[in-house]
Amino acid sequence: MENNDKIPLHVSIIMDGNGRWAKERGKERCFGHAEGVESVRSCTEEAIRKGVKYLSLFAFSEENWNRPEAEVNALMELMVKAMVNELPTFLKNGIRFIVLGNRARLDDSLNEMIDECMEKTAGCGNLSLVIFMSYSGRWDILQAAKKLALELAADPSRSAEVSGMGLEDFSRYLVTSGIPDPDLIIRTSGELRISNYLLWQCAYSELYFTDVLWPDFRAEEFDAAIQEYAKRDRRYGKVK
Ligand code: FPP
Repeated sequence: MENNDKIPLHVSIIMDGNGRWAKERGKERCFGHAEGVESVRSCTEEAIRKGVKYLSLFAFSEENWNRPEAEVNALMELMVKAMVNELPTFLKNGIRFIVLGNRARLDDSLNEMIDECMEKTAGCGNLSLVIFMSYSGRWDILQAAKKLALELAADPSRSAEVSGMGLEDFSRYLVTSGIPDPDLIIRTSGELRISNYLLWQCAYSELYFTDVLWPDFRAEEFDAAIQEYAKRDRRYGKVK
């Protein structure tokens, strides 16, 4: 592990370009997703080597439910396969596995596997690998507001808390509660958008865009992003 205070605590990745990668090779889109799992493995290993503590991945957005059913099913199956195959590696390498998002939309069997994987790796401390599934930033903020509103409705004596409520207090209602905001957000495949990802949490994230398609984004590319991050001057709106 490298001793460098310029290593981001939390790196988050919008994995994009699997379909184009497959098309360039005359293959089905799902071929690109399968190859993308290899990039997940490579970046996870590199994150541990670099001393990154949180690696989060946008694996499936709320909007992705609108893709053809066969592609949605293939992505869900890839997720199951990856969990089955990788659980021993997670335990061996101290990887805590976390899935966040609108899990009510996922199949019961997938949710059971996710729970099992999360429970078994709960004590792992080298790296937290956070997978965003059926997630969108606006959905997260809305579910937080609903949760808070329901709590207050159930206990009107708490309504006085609202005026004193700060940003930290509200962020505890987001699904990412307990996870630091991303220091660095990477998006692959040349798209220059946040696409309804961690909208609240990205307030001060450094953004890194690359033309490299996700299946080609491996350890060396991950390192290049970390090196670029080390050059950034983070001021959080202050004067230095
Ligand atoms: C975006 O590429 C990618 C996705 C919507 C899926 C990403 C999922 C994986 C890599 C597999 C998940 C596995 C684990 C273990 C987390 P795209 O299909 O939008 O590509 P395009 O823009 O070229 O069409």
